[in-house]
Amino acid sequence: MGYRWWAGYLRDVQTLVVDHPLAAARLTTMRDARTEPAVFRAALRELTLMLVYEATRGIEIEKYPIHTPVARTTGTRLGNPPLLVPVLRAGLGMAEAAFGLLPEASMGFVGLARDEETFQPRAYMESLPENLTGRPVFVLDPMLATGGSLQHCVGLLTQRGATDVTVICALAAPEGLRRLEEAQLPIRVVTASIDERLNDSAYIVPGLGDAGDRQFGSV
Ligand code: URA
Repeated sequence: MGYRWWAGYLRDVQTLVVDHPLAAARLTTMRDARTEPAVFRAALRELTLMLVYEATRGIEIEKYPIHTPVARTTGTRLGNPPLLVPVLRAGLGMAEAAFGLLPEASMGFVGLARDEETFQPRAYMESLPENLTGRPVFVLDPMLATGGSLQHCVGLLTQRGATDVTVICALAAPEGLRRLEEAQLPIRVVTASIDERLNDSAYIVPGLGDAGDRQFGSV
């Protein structure tokens, strides 16, 4: 128990559902409409720690010699630390926890808005290294809903040569996972839940509402 790969359902997008009881409890706090923003933010931070922990299970490591106070032994460190990319604004609430667990990582930022003429996602901020060849990337966004903005974001990364992208989200909708699968992007998804569906307003059901508003209040 603790996690399961969602294989078969999705051909190209590997999806890891972290269904550990502690993850489910934090997610329940986030889902509850009565939860205040400060408590919501704390639950998202703690859930992010669990998701990143599982996402890094197979990460590249290197061995090196160290001395304990008693003897020589072999130590372990990350061989190729990932680039963390929170998607503004909701992904900001995951950034500090992910960085805390991966202090060797660096952080880029992507800000996405909806173009009001084309209704397509448009990057208003792209603070990313020029070359991402050979570099693992962890995209942080609490909600994978239609998949449109994440598809756009991952496109920005693959244009820079990324071929190893992990999307870390609290919740995913089947529609969004299907869209990412159809886009045939080189990604895997780590999430605490695959919910039922999207509603007519593209909110995840049962979901948790607007993850940005729940963290920061509606502005
Ligand atoms: N974004 C959110 O914040 N919530 C949803 O349910 C869908 C997209």
